Amino acid sequence: PNTEGPGPRIVLVGPPGSGKSTVGAALAERWHLALRDTDSDVETTVGKTIPEIFFDDGEPAFRELERAAVAAAVAEHDGVLALGGGAVLDERTQRVLADYEHGGGVVVFLDVTLTHAAPRVGFNQSRPLLLGNPRAQWQALMEARRPVYERVATMRVLTDGLRPADVAEAIEGEL
Ligand code: S3P
Repeated sequence: PNTEGPGPRIVLVGPPGSGKSTVGAALAERWHLALRDTDSDVETTVGKTIPEIFFDDGEPAFRELERAAVAAAVAEHDGVLALGGGAVLDERTQRVLADYEHGGGVVVFLDVTLTHAAPRVGFNQSRPLLLGNPRAQWQALMEARRPVYERVATMRVLTDGLRPADVAEAIEGEL
């Protein structure tokens, strides 16, 4: 990576349980950069947790907040940015990411299989989209989204069995 300038500009995308937060933290530590996370940005803006927003206001309201959070974060942030797993489904967000890549930013798809995602996600109440039959929901969600993750990303890293620090090293090696 370029050590002269402000450092690498990286956006992490991928499904729940792909390690966006932990890999983001490992990259931020490795490069002494700040880590920003759009899920946290939305929660801070609204003053509610994500499950509260889903249940009180509905998914469309969440997606609207998320779109604004991603646009602001991409525009303002130099460093490592982790997106919520569904953020890339939004067409305006896809354009924001395409512009970001044209400007030298790198979008990394953290790929993962269910077996490895399941223990990371824990399939608890914090993911409203995975309630009911979490494993089947996750599979369906990943199947539907995989083409989008692949299309928006500059780089794909299969994270199965890798520690966050190993994934960070793999990303650095590909830059
Ligand atoms: C979602 C993923 C979550 C969060 C929300 C919706 C999704 O983020 O944004 O629950 O649609 O995949 P993580 O990917 O960090 O779990």
